[in-house]
Amino acid sequence: MSRGPKTLYACTACGGQSSKWVGQCPDCGAWNTLQEAAAPPAAAGRRGGYAGGGEAVVRTLATIGASEDERLSTGLDELDRVLGGGLVAGSVVLIGGDPGIGKSTLLLQTLAALAERAPVLYVSGEESGEQIGLRARRLGVSGERLRVLTETAVERILALAAAEAPRVMVVDSIQTLYTELLQSAPGSVAQVRESAAQLVRHAKRARTAVFLVGHVTKEGALAGPRVLEHMVDTVLYFEGEVGSQFRLIRAVKNRFGAANELGVFAMTDRGLRPVGNPSAIFLSRHDGEVAGSGILVTREGTRPLLVEVQALVDQSALGNPRRVALGLEQNRLAMLLAVLHRHAGVAMADQDVYVNVVGGVRVTETAADLPTLLAVLSSFRDRPLPRDLVAFGEVGLAGEVRPVPNGPERLREAAKHGFRRALVPHGNVPRGGVEGMEVVAVRRLAEALDALA
Ligand code: TYD
Ligand code: MG
Repeated sequence: MSRGPKTLYACTACGGQSSKWVGQCPDCGAWNTLQEAAAPPAAAGRRGGYAGGGEAVVRTLATIGASEDERLSTGLDELDRVLGGGLVAGSVVLIGGDPGIGKSTLLLQTLAALAERAPVLYVSGEESGEQIGLRARRLGVSGERLRVLTETAVERILALAAAEAPRVMVVDSIQTLYTELLQSAPGSVAQVRESAAQLVRHAKRARTAVFLVGHVTKEGALAGPRVLEHMVDTVLYFEGEVGSQFRLIRAVKNRFGAANELGVFAMTDRGLRPVGNPSAIFLSRHDGEVAGSGILVTREGTRPLLVEVQALVDQSALGNPRRVALGLEQNRLAMLLAVLHRHAGVAMADQDVYVNVVGGVRVTETAADLPTLLAVLSSFRDRPLPRDLVAFGEVGLAGEVRPVPNGPERLREAAKHGFRRALVPHGNVPRGGVEGMEVVAVRRLAEALDALA
């Protein structure tokens, strides 16, 4: 690696700079906050606005054209959906997910489809050209117009990208890149940040859409600085279990579309296939009735989705019983159990409570409150819920059951899949009812429990 022009150390707390590393920031006095940072290039860094080039001018908003309109379809409906209706020129999309979940597969498929219509470039720092070729063969894509580069130095990637002028570029992965401006190893916070910054500048200047693949740490956060998520336009996360067939892609942030939109795919032996109507794929369809299982209608993104929430309540051997929530928020579970105790008189202080959303789905909305409590209670009493029952609704600290958005749409979706009974907040009941479905409206948690008694 050639020696860069100059290395600086910047404090992550106050931004103060120092020419050498010291344990305590000379500006704010914080300890261990200094990290290597790239010194701004003497001339270039000072000019140009956000778009990173040319003179910045002040304009009225009305004169700024809505060039946002040019959306490029990726060829995969479900990916277009999470992107907000296709790929925007000059946008930078960060895709995170566990190893082996299908990031490289998805992007190779996408680029192969795009290559028919526009120049594209696949940059890999992780795999050799042969490995990429093997995957392409497996996916059955021709790759005739798919340009591939295996390289990890950002400066060389950008030089070649400038020559190739692709409209869409994939960089797999950001953690393998390094910039010559810095001494630290690829994958370090400073390297990831600076490499991404250079790629973002290039994307804006050249109007190239860039996909960045990011690794995910054990804790589920993108490895590298959080600031990476702020630098890019869109952040997509792969969800789901590597062992299961289905893969979900969630837009965690999107400057060009709705956040929290979900795309659903199935992993096949020939790559990822979009699942256009995913509403019932996460139901496990037990043979008989089982205690501790409840069906909820969630609405992640713009589609209703039927998912199963399972609970196991068991006598605790610990002084401090366990509350474990997978696919739901842990604190919310603790809160719901407190409401159950205070407003419905069911105590679980000596019980371990485990809750899991089937299929690796993560439910972020409060509509899961009521069905979660029903599943917990069902396990606690070892009494199955009716098999044709669905539920949704937010539960408040006062023991009230609050309506959630799009109630009628959720009910219709459940009816379509053969559910005949629904336990929902009073405010969510459609006026004319729902055909083929008995809707039980409740205002308080205690009423909901009575309705099932
Ligand atoms: P990959 O896309 O390399 O995951 P990532 O880049 O996120 O680490 O691989 C995903 C997994 O999918 C891998 O274990 C093999 C499997 N797979 C299929 O099932 N079908 C296919 O057509 C391909 C290409 C991969
Ligand atoms: Mg990969």
